[in-house]
Amino acid sequence: MTTEARPADVVTPQPAPASEESAWRRRHLLDIDDFTVDELELVMSTTDTMKEVLSREVPRVPALRGTTIVTLFYENSTRTRTSFELAGKILGADVINVAASGSSVTKGESLIDTVKTLQAVGADVLVMRHNRSGAPYLASRHTECSVVNAGDGLHAHPTQGLLDLYTMRGALGDVRGKKIVVVGDILHSRVARSNMWALTAFGANVVVCAPRTLLPAGLGDETEGRLPPVRVETDLDHAIEGADVVMALRMQLERMHGGFVPGAREYSRLYQVNANRLARAKPGALVLHPGPMNEGVEISHEVAHGLQSHVEEQVTNGVAVRMAVLWLITRQTTRGARLAARGSL
Ligand code: CP
Repeated sequence: MTTEARPADVVTPQPAPASEESAWRRRHLLDIDDFTVDELELVMSTTDTMKEVLSREVPRVPALRGTTIVTLFYENSTRTRTSFELAGKILGADVINVAASGSSVTKGESLIDTVKTLQAVGADVLVMRHNRSGAPYLASRHTECSVVNAGDGLHAHPTQGLLDLYTMRGALGDVRGKKIVVVGDILHSRVARSNMWALTAFGANVVVCAPRTLLPAGLGDETEGRLPPVRVETDLDHAIEGADVVMALRMQLERMHGGFVPGAREYSRLYQVNANRLARAKPGALVLHPGPMNEGVEISHEVAHGLQSHVEEQVTNGVAVRMAVLWLITRQTTRGARLAARGSL
């Protein structure tokens, strides 16, 4: 743990350390593609702080008392929505959940009008999931609330990238030089994109593996420039050799409009993370999956729930990472600054 954002800061009124002040200036969390290593480190160390809070007998602190968080989900979610809700409540915020399917969106209300309405009722933070890439960026331009991207289309899932990084560092110590194989539907995966940015920022050796039809154009092309520097493989048996981490991704059938693979059985035969394939990775290699899992398709049941699986730990870490993100961004809002001045943090 670094000296930044210690547990005492959460419960004891203290000015933020100068290093933290300089490392974090974001009011929104839309993506992590432009995060500096210092910013990523600050999220990691603040997550350590939040883990300590979670380990207490009564894991509740008043750090965000007086703050209203609205989760606004236009797409289904189990892990992300519940962990943001819990993260806000543990920090003392009021949390309101809005599912687009049960809101005035079904009557034709636009995203911008919905965001303005939630601001008008008193929201300070909008945690937003949307099936359209870029929707949280649009929202952030039309509100004074902080906007946190909880997954937008194919584009980004920044808190998933952060929690995966945190989970890997917890087990490996450091990801620099480690071989991390991400296998599956890379084309449709916002999780893969956010992981690639976070892991390559720390010098990990990231290998993505998929059939050509499930790889984004330009990925692996070092001259491309706009994409993270990863190696691309199409043969999982080769890609997985000596891996420190194997992350399987879900086949995103809801985003597929065409025959990307011959069929689930053929896909599993070539790309499923199963015991035989995992035996080619380093002994004790970590197995990750962001969930939800299609067991028997991209990952076998025995690997998903085996000794090397860190899937449940990913979910648990998601609460602490989201606590850290909420705490950091709210310090940049007018109300957050007011609460800090009043000594509530
Ligand atoms: N990993 C993830 O985003 O899961 P949910 O869709 O359940 O939130």
